[in-house]
Formats: sequence, structure tokens, C-alpha cells
Amino acid sequence: MHKKIEGPTWLSGYVINNRLFGRKTKLLVKIGDIDFYVLGGYSNELLSKIHKLLKQGIVVNPSNVRDQVVYIAAKLNSNLRLNELLKDIQNEICTIVDADAASILIYEEDHLKFLVTVGKASGKIESIPVPMESIAGTIFKESKALIFNDLEKNPVHFKGVDKAAKFKTENIVGAPIWVENQKIGVIEVLNKKGGFMEEDAKIVDLFAKIIGRKLLSTWNYERFSSNFKKLLLAIATAIDKRDNYTHTHSQNVSMYSVEIGRKLGISQELLEKLEFSAILHDVGKIGIPDSILLKPGKLTDEEYQIIKNHTIYGAEILSQIKYVDKEILSGALEHHERLDGSGYPYGKKNGEISLFGRIIGIVDVYDALSTKRSYKEAWTKEKVFEIIKQDVEKGKFDLELYNYLVEIVNDMEG
Ligand SMILES: [Fe+2]
Repeated sequence: MHKKIEGPTWLSGYVINNRLFGRKTKLLVKIGDIDFYVLGGYSNELLSKIHKLLKQGIVVNPSNVRDQVVYIAAKLNSNLRLNELLKDIQNEICTIVDADAASILIYEEDHLKFLVTVGKASGKIESIPVPMESIAGTIFKESKALIFNDLEKNPVHFKGVDKAAKFKTENIVGAPIWVENQKIGVIEVLNKKGGFMEEDAKIVDLFAKIIGRKLLSTWNYERFSSNFKKLLLAIATAIDKRDNYTHTHSQNVSMYSVEIGRKLGISQELLEKLEFSAILHDVGKIGIPDSILLKPGKLTDEEYQIIKNHTIYGAEILSQIKYVDKEILSGALEHHERLDGSGYPYGKKNGEISLFGRIIGIVDVYDALSTKRSYKEAWTKEKVFEIIKQDVEKGKFDLELYNYLVEIVNDMEG
């Protein structure tokens, strides 16, 4: 006997054991043996609720393609990165309607623009503005799903994209993408053997309505985070310049650190934190006077003590930023610690040193030694590997990280 469920705001009614509670709506979501009738539209909130249920292991067997669309949209909701989201959207919609390719275009003033594409066309078509006198433009202007099965004879078909992507579009079904009452773009699904049918258009239309909000928020987040990264890079470059480093030191450290993180198989979320941490690992140098930071001769013990403080200052500065957590801080604080306890500021050993501290530490030394400084020429990578290898043998750096570093540098620099 099923207990009556307290109705959440998105629920209009549900059916259990053929008994209806509440009322039916047009939007049905089947979860387990319960049919849920949903109010309004498929909001992000609803999709994340469904997603949670799916994550709890509830087995869902969509009984028809339209239900499938809802589940797929719920799955897509867990994507954080635009690239991944687009790839999944394209793969999923192509599978459902049995087509070869799909693309998403966003409306910008007087034209449509491709969002970052995946697959063969990647990097080739994003910069091509698609005029409103095109198939995508027509779908956008008419505000409804449309099928174009005979493109050869269609004068509005814009061939510029096919040419750039080396792709031959045979037929298209497309629909406008909506966020609430605002049209933000168009999804086009391309090339189905024998042409698209009315049912395909309905599915693509439903799909486009469901993905709109998620697509827009992910796109906005991506734009924000790319601007934020540019800002971080500008700060890091300023610090490098002041320290007489080549201006790409922090950027190099960040790039190699992320590659090592990837080899270690750490999560995407952690990789982003590592990138942030590595790019600002020396931000604390801002608190070290020029007379010490730029002193050409040997430092006195007292001066060296002051230099060491850049790790603590760095952690202090970063801790002012809301987004920064203990992992990001640990890179700035511990990148001069060494496994044998000979590093600074605390002389931490082995497992006491964070992963970020260990990765950024070894990469920092590699980049500093392999680039030209005011007091030395750039050394060859072989010479630098040899020096770091000796430190590995002395127990200062991890052998695993060293091996990955050598692999990455050799791969990148050939
Ligand atoms: Fe440093």
C-alpha cells in the first residue's frame, strides 16, 4: 500500500496502482512505478530533483521517446562545463532521432553564432556568423520547429558552414531554444537517412525547450570563468614581471601542474582548483620589498627569512577570496615544502604536504631552472631533469610526479 506523497510544488498529481491523486497534466514523468504529472514546464529545479532520484538508484524505464527526452535532460543537468554539456546534448539528440550531427546556435543582435562545437567541425565554424536569411535564421524567426528535407532546392540554405566544416548537410530538423518566454537560439539536428518526420520535429522541439535554461546558465558561467581566468593571469603576469621572471612563469607552472593532475586522474573540479592555485602560487611576493626580492647578490639569513614569508603572505591574500578553499591555499602555502622536511615555511614532511603543494613545488623548480633569469642562462631540459632527479633521490620530490613531469615536458616540447 503506497502512502500518499506530500506534493512538492512542481507536482500536479500522480498515479499509483491505477489510482490518481491530484490531477493529470500534459507533462508526464515516470519514476519507478509511479506516474508523476508535472506542473508548468520542465524547470531546472524539477530536472535536478529527478536527477537526485536517479542518483539514488531509482530505476527508470521510460515508456516512450518523449519521456526519454525528460530523463536525458535530467542527466544533462549535472554537466558543469559547456564543452561537456554540448557534447552530451549533441550525442543524445542524435541518438534519439537517429541523426548524424547536431549544432547549437545562439542569437546575437542580427545573426546567429555557433557555440563551441565538438567533433570534426570543432574550431572551424565558431567564428562564422550565420545570417538570419538561413535555415537556422528561419527557425528562429518563425519560432517553431521546422523540417527541411530537400536542402539542394532550398535557396536559404547557408553553405558557408558546410564548406568550413567539410560536411555535407542533407537534411535538417531544428527548433528554437527557449528560456522562459525568451528565444535564445536554435538547435539544428542534421542528416537522417530518408529525411526527418513530424515526430522528430516534436522531439527536437521538446528537447530545445528543456535544455534552454541549463544551456544559458552554463554558457554564462563559462564566459564568467574565462574572464575571471584572464584576470588571474594578469595578476600572475604582473608578479612574474616584478620578480624578473619571464612573464609566462606562472602560466607555465599552471599548465604543467594541470597536466600532472590529469595524469594522476584527479577530478575536473579539482583540476580547476589546481589551475587557480598554481597560477597564483607566488602572489605573496607582492608583500616582499624590492630591495630583497630583486637583490642581485647573496641574501643574508634575515633576508632569506623574509623571502620565505611569501608563501604565508600568499595564503593570507588568497584566503580573502570567497571561492578559495584549503586546497587552493595549500598550493601557495606549501610549494616550497620538501618531502624530507628541508623546505619552508613549516618544514613539513611527506604526507603532511598537500598534493597541490607537491605538484606545484616540482613544476615551479622545473620552470625556474629551464628559463633564463637575470643571474643565469636558460638550462636545457636534460640538465634540469638531471638536477631534479638528484633531488628525487635525496627524498625531496615524489618520483611519480617527476616521471609525469618528464613525460609531459617531452610530449609538449618534443
Ligand atoms: Fe614561490
